Amino acid sequence: MGTQRDGTNTAPQHERADLPALADREGILGDLDRVICEAWASFDAPRTAEPQLDEMLIRRLEAPLPEEAGDTEAALQDAARILDASISPSRPLYLGYIGSTGLEIGVLASALVATYDANLAVAAGGADLVEEQTLRWLAGFVGFPYAEGAFTSGGMTSNLTALLAAREQALPGCRVDGLGDRRAAVYCSAEAHHSVVRAVEVCGLGSSAVRLISIDEAHRMRPEALDESLSSDIAAGVVPVAVVATAGTALTGAVDPLDAVADVCARHGVWLHIDGAYGLPGAAPTTAPLFAGLERADSAAIDAHKWLGVQKSCSAVLLRERGRLQAAFGHEERYMLHEGDLANPVDRTLEYSRPLRSLRLWMAFRVHGAARYRAWIENTLTNARLFAESLRDSSEFELLHDPMLSTVCFRHVPAGTGDVDAHNIKLAREMQRDGRVFLAPASVDGRACLRVCFVNFRTTFDGIAHVLEVAGELGRRMARD
Ligand SMILES: Cc1ncc(COP(=O)(O)O)c(C=O)c1O
Repeated sequence: MGTQRDGTNTAPQHERADLPALADREGILGDLDRVICEAWASFDAPRTAEPQLDEMLIRRLEAPLPEEAGDTEAALQDAARILDASISPSRPLYLGYIGSTGLEIGVLASALVATYDANLAVAAGGADLVEEQTLRWLAGFVGFPYAEGAFTSGGMTSNLTALLAAREQALPGCRVDGLGDRRAAVYCSAEAHHSVVRAVEVCGLGSSAVRLISIDEAHRMRPEALDESLSSDIAAGVVPVAVVATAGTALTGAVDPLDAVADVCARHGVWLHIDGAYGLPGAAPTTAPLFAGLERADSAAIDAHKWLGVQKSCSAVLLRERGRLQAAFGHEERYMLHEGDLANPVDRTLEYSRPLRSLRLWMAFRVHGAARYRAWIENTLTNARLFAESLRDSSEFELLHDPMLSTVCFRHVPAGTGDVDAHNIKLAREMQRDGRVFLAPASVDGRACLRVCFVNFRTTFDGIAHVLEVAGELGRRMARD
């Protein structure tokens, strides 16, 4: 029997044991509405501490699989309390790793996506048009010459999708015959994201096929080193599958010199993929000149669930030439026949069942507009610049690099501290325990540090000033003890 929220008997007349429909559906959706509104209100300002789970809830999380039906409202309240005591990138001072913002409009889209549950593996009607329009909007927003693409589960999958397309172009028939005795390589900077290495492994090339190209003092791939590596591989009979340039590294936000890298790729006839999972939205505001050359790339990855503020997961892979995805993924199965010579959407994607991930971004672009988005991104860039300036002016902190985008790595260097590396790693953990600011430790040029990434549209400059207050307060206390 279903839930009775107010104690009255609301059971339907013909309850069927095989259909787990919720009784009082409207009532419980109303409860959900209140829970969600409370959560959003809690994102408006930083919290003074992270709430902890109480003992009873922890015990319920250790319980075995329930055999009998339970109370819906109780499950909803528990789920809300568990999430409230979990780390959320929607909070204004979540600055660790690469977060997001969590735009309210994404909740509307997520609710609709879950309600209609369209599957984009097969032709889904209007939903297909939403995905296609969003891909065009996104490509236009960052200035990529779009011909085809897909929404995927994340930067990892977008990078892998592009590399599988590049592999089939460089080594035709590889998806059927494997590599055989052919040797192949993929090129990326020494500070590319590990998802590139993982994608190369999944492509069956082996991670030893990854050539980590050296970087300059600004942490960008050196095009001359790339040229040398390609020339020596080609001379040795190794087939270059792709060069992956990063537009916004996860560590420092460095953007590789895309135009110069594109020149090298053109000279050697190699596929250029841009991993812009984090940084590509930076091609829209005043940092656009850093991305010159993007328009020459064969493919690009961009996560809408990072700097574009929508909820996970929502990433896109964009390609400049139609047909490359079909060459890598096209097939026909007896349970999914083609209509005439019309392929199914799944003939162009790595994944099979796919939700309408694009709806979150489609709603966000429609409701907020591109100009507002650019202004928001600009604001996060300004936050990073101002934060770097306050570090330069400080006697107890050290700035480790000029921010190219919205990421800043820095260290606390109180006078008299012997092991600055150990001090900063410990300080990052202490800040996470403290709960007022969430950031994570990192290591830049062999130096342990604190790293912040400004992608959250709710982070204000006052909030940022608080980061150094908290780091200084905890760091000084640790140095004293
Ligand atoms: C540059 C870069 N590429 C790829 C990824 C992987 O993206 P995802 O976590 O969405 O799979 C990240 C994640 O931070 C990234 O920063």
